[in-house]
Amino acid sequence: MTERLEDIALAMVADGKGILAADESSGTIKKRFDAIKVESTEENRRDYRELMFRAGDAMKNHISGVILYDETIRQKAADGTPLVDIIKAAGAVPGIKVDAGAKPLAGFPGDTVTEGLDGLRERLAEYYKLGARFAKWRAVIDINEEENVPSATAIDANCHALARYAALCQEAGIVPIVEPEVLMDGAHDIDTCYEVTKVTLLQLFSELYAADVNLAGTILKPNMVIPGKKSGTKASPEQVAEMTLKVFRETVPVAVPGIAFLSGGQSDEEATANLNAMNAAGPLPWKLTFSYGRALQAAPQKAWAGKKDNVTAAQKAFAHRARMNGLAAQGKWSPDLEKQG
Ligand code: 13P
Repeated sequence: MTERLEDIALAMVADGKGILAADESSGTIKKRFDAIKVESTEENRRDYRELMFRAGDAMKNHISGVILYDETIRQKAADGTPLVDIIKAAGAVPGIKVDAGAKPLAGFPGDTVTEGLDGLRERLAEYYKLGARFAKWRAVIDINEEENVPSATAIDANCHALARYAALCQEAGIVPIVEPEVLMDGAHDIDTCYEVTKVTLLQLFSELYAADVNLAGTILKPNMVIPGKKSGTKASPEQVAEMTLKVFRETVPVAVPGIAFLSGGQSDEEATANLNAMNAAGPLPWKLTFSYGRALQAAPQKAWAGKKDNVTAAQKAFAHRARMNGLAAQGKWSPDLEKQG
């Protein structure tokens, strides 16, 4: 029997749980490993990811799903158990990144469009067989006001691709995570982030409707509304919560069961504090949780540093971040709890 998309989506945003984004492409994981002076071999990548998937209570209590990369969904643990089976045994749903990355958009310098639709139907059928029940596609929207980035063309092209991807996922029995990431790298202020996020989400949902995507079987993975890194300003968690919830109330239909944020380069604690502030400002019509890559993994990566002897310490570091974000997903986190770790 195939599971209902709606039930998978609800499981992905279950109370106090969120998603571990462990789907770094080969290039990205190499960058992360370079930072801890670990060689990016297939075995090291496997050992590192296996240690998180085996992090016992942290996985069971706080992780609802794991986004995998093509290599990882096919990999076996050191003892021969498929990594997918370890994830399932922890009660989490295996997921898969299916986009082929953001490429320069012809005719629009500074803009990108995410590729990967060709052959996607066949790839999804294979990933379903390998155990994936949700997928991820990331569109990247940069902000550079002086260069007129993003263009309307870039937003339209990316949202159209997201909708075509989402429809193909649902046809295959797979819940699409739709991720239109407005980058926080620019020099823009929080109001500009709000404006660009609003235009992007309006266009995204318009395309999802046009493609007849079932919103109840879809998870949104957005950025938070924050000032750009190069703006030299920071917003308080309360400000971030206010602006981010405002944009969602204006654009995200209540039929969407859950919103799982990317961390996007925020510090670990910022990503947790901001998520907490939004949930503390509830009640909200959607579940608000995390789908963090860096904000869940920076601490365990540092603790691990490629050494077998550090596996327990790395699992502890991962467990702490998973627990803090699990609390934030319920509005129950506080800076004091952070220190206890
Ligand atoms: P970050 O949380 O590191 O932004 O990664 C999440 C993700 O999956 C981006 O596509």
